[in-house]
Order: sequence, then C-alpha cells, then structure tokens
Amino acid sequence: MNKNKNNKTIWNVRIKKNTSTAFQKIGSSIEIDKKLYKEDIVGSIAHVEMLFRQKIISFKIKNKIIYGLNKIEKEIVKKKFEYNKKYEDIHINIENRLFELIGDEAGYIHTARSRNDQVITDFKMWLRSATIKINKNLDNTVNIILKIAEKNVKTIMPGFTHLKNAQAVSFAHYLLAYVEMFKRDKQRFINNLESLSENPLGAAALTGTSFNIDRNFTTKKLGFKKPTNNSIDTVSDRDFVLDFLYSVSVCSLHISRIAEEFIIWNSDAFNLINLSDGVVTGSSIMPQKKNPDLLEYLRGKSGTSFGNLFSMLTILKGLPLSYFKDLQDDKEIVFKSNETLINCVLILNEILKNFKPNKKKMLELANIGYITATDLADYLVKNHAMSFRKAYQVTALIVNYAEKKKKKLDELNINELNKIEPKLTNDVLKIFDLEYSVRSKKSYGGTSFDNIKKMITKHKKN
Ligand code: ARG
Repeated sequence: MNKNKNNKTIWNVRIKKNTSTAFQKIGSSIEIDKKLYKEDIVGSIAHVEMLFRQKIISFKIKNKIIYGLNKIEKEIVKKKFEYNKKYEDIHINIENRLFELIGDEAGYIHTARSRNDQVITDFKMWLRSATIKINKNLDNTVNIILKIAEKNVKTIMPGFTHLKNAQAVSFAHYLLAYVEMFKRDKQRFINNLESLSENPLGAAALTGTSFNIDRNFTTKKLGFKKPTNNSIDTVSDRDFVLDFLYSVSVCSLHISRIAEEFIIWNSDAFNLINLSDGVVTGSSIMPQKKNPDLLEYLRGKSGTSFGNLFSMLTILKGLPLSYFKDLQDDKEIVFKSNETLINCVLILNEILKNFKPNKKKMLELANIGYITATDLADYLVKNHAMSFRKAYQVTALIVNYAEKKKKKLDELNINELNKIEPKLTNDVLKIFDLEYSVRSKKSYGGTSFDNIKKMITKHKKN
C-alpha cells in the first residue's frame, strides 16, 4: 500500500497545511545530506535488528524493512532514486520510499528513535570514513616529501628567520619540517576518532526512550565503541564537528604556509625552485609568464576552511539545548571543508611531484648574509673560553669589518681576523664552510646530515 499517494509529508496529520513552499525549497537539506544515504541505511538496518532482538518488532517486519532498505540503497546507487525536496532530508526521503515499497509496516522503522539521534549517528559514521580518507591522502603527501628529502640531504640552502638569511640548513631538513606538520595533522584527525566513537543512537529526540532498546548492540554493529552518556547532550552536541573543522583548518593552514613558501621560492627574485609546466598557468597578456596559480589556490583556500570553522562556532554560540534547525547547516559546512581539503591535498601532491630545487641558486643564496656568523660565535665559546655574549660581540665586529670591506666571511684572512680577535688561529677558517656548518648541527632534531638520514629512516618506518 502506498501511504504516500497524496504526496503528504510524515507530519501532515496534525499540521493541516503544507509547509510554506518557499521554506520547503529553501529549508530542505536533501541536496546536501543525500551524501549520508549509505550511513542512514546502515544505521536503520542496525536499528531494526536491535528492535527485533529486543522483541520490539517482529521477525517478519524486521525482514521486510531490511529488504526495503536494501532495495532503496540499490536504487540510489543506480541513480534511480527520486529525491524529493518536499521530504526535507535524507531520512524522510528514505522513510517515505520505504512506505512506497513495503507499505504500512515501514511505520515501525522509526520506533524508539528520532531524526535527532539518527542524523548524528549517520554524520559521525560519515566523518569517521572522511577522516580516514583524509589521512590516506596525507600519507601520500608525507611519502612524496620523504622521497624528495632523500635526494636532497646534502642540498644546502639558507634557513630564514624574518625571511632574512639566518643559518645554513639542508633542504631535506626543511622538507622534513613539513613532514612533521602533516604528521601532526594526521594525529589530530586520529584523535578525533575518539569522540566519533560514541554512539548517539538511542538518545531519540532528547530524553532517551521508554522502549527496552539495547544501545550496546547498535554500538557494536555500527563500529562505535560505546553509547553516549546523556541523551540531551547527545542531540545537542556538535563538538565533534568543531574538532573536524578545526583539524581541517590547521591542515589547510599548513598547506597555505608551504604554498606561500613555494611562491616566494619560485619568484624571480628568489629563484630557489622551478615548477614544471604541469603546475603553472599562463598570462592572457604577458606571453613570457608562468604563474604559480595552483599554489595561490592552496594559499587562498585556507580562508574557506577557517570561515567554515567560524560559521559552526557561531551557529553553536548561545544555542540552548537540545535540537534546533540551526544545527542542520553542520553538514553543508563539513562537506565543503572536507571537499576543499581533499582537493588541496591532491593539488599539493601534484606540485610536490612537479618541482625541482635550484641547488645552485640555493647555495649561492646561502653564501649571502654572513650565515656562518653564529658558527663563529660558537667556535669562540668552545675554543677560546669566552661567554656566548662576549663571543657574540667579537663576531658582530668581524661581520661589521667584512661588510665594510665588502667581503664574505670566508674571504677574510687570519691577519684581518686577528685585528679584531688576536687569539684566533688558522683553525677558525674551517668554520666558514657551509657544509661544515650544517654537519655540525648534531643536536637531536638539528640539521646535520646524519640526523636527517636517521629521521628519514624513522619516518619511513611509521
Ligand atoms: N535534517 C535534520 C538535520 O540535519 C535532521 C534532524 C531533524 N530534526 C528535527 N527535529 N527537525 O538537522
């Protein structure tokens, strides 16, 4: 029997008029939450199995509902399912179709549940798989970076502070900094799986239910770890959404930092890297141009992620318990953030596979800016019994002298150095060698070649 021949919605028993057509169109979320169809069906199947085990519905009804739900899933997969805005969201669209397929017995599916607990059950399951997918993409990023790092252990470049040449580093060390960032991102996403592991199903509208349900059964069946503790909090809580949006924001922020760095390095002024033609765009008027648009896209998109986080924070601010329509927007926000991040990671991976360090230019730049000055100060402390502050002063005088003479530090001879610090011997001259400088940074986490090699091996293991 088709319950729905008058095209009425489920609550048109008490509410005599159809909802404003404008609101039906605008307030309907089906175009967005239809993404949750799989989770909705899996959740409903677990729910009716539980209802049957608890003797709340019969074996026959359970089977009929599951048959109908499986059929609906096939229709959706084959794109034969007709979504209708009138039925507001994915839950009512599916329930409605169930009535069409199996008749009145479909009416048992919503026993002991509400869309309030249903939607977050679906959403948490969806977020679980989205989180895992993001991390798989980030694994690719990490592996690509590690490969480039392996080839560049001995590529020397200046490390910067304030974007001024600071000290010599290995390019691989620089790259491994990005690996650390992405590994932290991954960990942040993994941490979120904890709050995503609490099963909301059974909280019903806000109070729980008088039916003798078994929340542990659906918890196990749907891959959660435990049921949530408080029914009111359960249907009001969107902290897990904030956690996701925050994690996406931090990851986008990291991507934007790399993007900006690559934009600077790719500029004609720096010229430290070359982007291959696959990841640049041309200009409509300047025939010579090869622009880093993809990097600029990555830099810009972090704004979208932060905006989404702020939208959700604003929706939740001051919202009383428990469910309100305001919350419905959570899905659109999350889906957008998720899609944007996945796209950004894909593009970043493309770029990483399509650039080359300009090793010659890196070394040239490292020879500018007296970047071995700190090495000299350290040498004075170690070899001439000076305090670091004293050694700093002596070194600053030597740099001043070199600057005045328009010489690099390694172009100074021992006589010139002795004019400022008579204790110095020829031995000091090795200090101005960039490779010597990099090799000497052996403290744990430092840029020495040995450290880097060990770090790469460590990263490759986990
Ligand atoms: N589509 C709704 C949402 O995502 C489902 C929950 C509706 N609950 C309600 N009481 N109107 O928020």
